[in-house]
Amino acid sequence: MSDRDDRATQDIAVPGESREVVIEALSSDGRGVARDDGLVWLVRGGLPGDRVRARVSRARRRFVEGEVDALLAPAPERREPPCPAWSRCGGCPWMPLPEGEQARWKGKVVADALRRIGGIEAEVDPVVASPRALGYRNKVEFTYSREQGSPVLGLFGPGRPPRLSRIEACMLQGTAANELLRSLHDLLPEGPWQKARVAIRSSRVHDELLVALRTEPRATPEARALARELRRRHPRLAGVVEWRSAPGRRGDATYSKLSGRTWLPEEIGGTRFRLPATAFFQVNPEAAEKLLDIALEEAGALFGLNVLDLYSGVGVQALTAARKGATVQACEADASAIECGLEAAEREGIDKVRFQQAEVGRTMRGPGDPVDVVLANPPRDGFGKGVAEGIARRKAKRVVIVSCDPATLARDLKALVAEGYRLDRVRPVDLFPQTPHVETVASLSR
Ligand SMILES: C[S@@+](CC[C@H](N)C(=O)[O-])C[C@H]1O[C@@H](n2cnc3c(N)ncnc32)[C@H](O)[C@@H]1O
Repeated sequence: MSDRDDRATQDIAVPGESREVVIEALSSDGRGVARDDGLVWLVRGGLPGDRVRARVSRARRRFVEGEVDALLAPAPERREPPCPAWSRCGGCPWMPLPEGEQARWKGKVVADALRRIGGIEAEVDPVVASPRALGYRNKVEFTYSREQGSPVLGLFGPGRPPRLSRIEACMLQGTAANELLRSLHDLLPEGPWQKARVAIRSSRVHDELLVALRTEPRATPEARALARELRRRHPRLAGVVEWRSAPGRRGDATYSKLSGRTWLPEEIGGTRFRLPATAFFQVNPEAAEKLLDIALEEAGALFGLNVLDLYSGVGVQALTAARKGATVQACEADASAIECGLEAAEREGIDKVRFQQAEVGRTMRGPGDPVDVVLANPPRDGFGKGVAEGIARRKAKRVVIVSCDPATLARDLKALVAEGYRLDRVRPVDLFPQTPHVETVASLSR
């Protein structure tokens, strides 16, 4: 990054002005990275090898943010994105790159974050591919709102400010979910909501679907009528729920039934879960199986060991570790996820797992018994304060982190290394083809 101060950056790059730049790399949030006139540019829509005319959208202290105004000479790797909505939708910014190139860049992004943020020079394994490049998502969350006076059901576009764009079908979800989306276009009432979020969830088990609706103001009689009509049209739609607050974040999501069931069956690691509408579950279940195998492989032989599973969700890792003979303590904030994990454990006769509903940071800052292995799968903001120290205090010999954010992973690894751990292996898995997101399994020992 440049050392110029704010003023100097703004003098060189004035918002609205355009400049010709060549994109050299990709940033962790998926933007193209270019260098010009001693400044680093982050260009939305630019891919490595592109020569573009970039318009300055914002001059930051140490870099310039821009948008592609014109693609002057495309990178040789560029392809025609297969999705007809691609240019209007911001969901798949890397779709013009073939999947192999996407994976190569994700590996670089992980290595770069470890070096820059963690101060760790690590060999990063080749990125494990997703079994499917399209149609892999079991959940897509759409927005239903007014855009330029008319109601639109869709996804936000790539521009700034982002515009909501009508989406007829999303190529990241399956056919049945897209048929349901078409019915939602027909049936969503025009009047009652200023803004609504509509999540379509699908399950590989019995091909069932679930719709979760968040409305402002709260759901009205129209929502119940909509739910009933949707279920009449789509026999595989198991239920429609109304949800409140952000799902999967620190357990503050709640939901209530509008029609039918409030959960979907989901299977992973040989365990069947009754997944509540708002609980976290990996959105690419086939790649999640691979991720789970890799995490458990990194944990090593678990028979007879004490395992702590932090940010356990419904207990995907915890129950799999218990099946392998470990005694597992799982820690998770979301009560509905814990209820789901307990139900699955009981139904499957897995008795060596205990769930604790708690905030991980608070638990780990307090005293605790020694453990052999820690498995941790934190949210995007990574470990809470004191978690790395808490792991070291519990004398864990092995730590396996599954992370969806290379930057916070790098920060957490740095904290664990400071506690005396050695980073053994870094194995990214491409759970999110067409996007810059990547999951990484990192294992440490001491
Ligand atoms: C990335 S998900 C991982 C879930 C699970 N390990 C899995 O693979 O399905 C993170 C989980 O951490 C929970 N969570 C987020 N912040 C938390 C916190 N501070 N304390 C406890 N749980 C938290 C969320 O509810 C969510 O279930």
